[in-house]
Amino acid sequence: MTETPDIAIIGGSGFYTFLDDPQEIDVETPYGAPSAPIATGTFTHGDTSRTVAFLPRHGQGHEFPAHRVNYRANMWALRSLGVRQILAPCAVGGLKPHLGPGSLVVPDQLADRTYGRAQTYFDKGACHVSFADPYCPRLRTALVDGLADDHESPVDGGTMVVVEGPRFSTRAESQWYAAQGWDVVNMTGQPEAILARELELCYATAALVTDLDAGISSTHAVDQSEVFRVFAEHTDTLKSRLRTVIASLSSERSCSCSEALAGMTLPLELP
Ligand code: ADE
Repeated sequence: MTETPDIAIIGGSGFYTFLDDPQEIDVETPYGAPSAPIATGTFTHGDTSRTVAFLPRHGQGHEFPAHRVNYRANMWALRSLGVRQILAPCAVGGLKPHLGPGSLVVPDQLADRTYGRAQTYFDKGACHVSFADPYCPRLRTALVDGLADDHESPVDGGTMVVVEGPRFSTRAESQWYAAQGWDVVNMTGQPEAILARELELCYATAALVTDLDAGISSTHAVDQSEVFRVFAEHTDTLKSRLRTVIASLSSERSCSCSEALAGMTLPLELP
């Protein structure tokens, strides 16, 4: 495997198996080390064969909880290897009764309730990146189409609210998120999405619902073991559908993600 990986998956460690012949690359960045060495290898699906990178967001042994993930190093490291498109599957809680465990959502909006996380590469100068539409529209379409099977399609659109964690939300918080009209809740979607945009990367997420959040049921509380169990239960299906998505992606980027910084004077050079 020698080619540059154009596409990366950021996800749980179950996703290593996407790659036929993974090689691990240690990458250092100006922001420190990413969550783990980046695995790159050949991805084959039908007639398609391409080089893909994989990064376990929480580390190889899930040592970094969502609020301690070095998001800046992760995104920088991927770009420095040549990655330009990122698919980021994640676990979410449902904020609507019909978004129960096993539902798949491809959000088109994000509401940021995190605090204290390093959110930008631009700590000097005037670089105010547009983020009205936080996800790459081309990758979103590929996910919506590719994640569908004969029986069901993912929910196309919706708002993912990202909370600081590591605790789950109180019922009052959860009811408030639901009252805003938001659809799903998670802990990792930010600052991953904005950092991708600041690096002119295409980025979209496939949100797998593992639980109904606390505000949606008057008796039920979100439980970590349930979240892990439901995610594990659905990982194989999600992986096999993501294979179709990866195979469908072109390396020609017809979206505007590669021009997110046009006209700005950057305080640093992108890798
Ligand atoms: N990830 C999975 N389920 C979640 C929930 N209910 N709240 C926040 N993050 C989650």
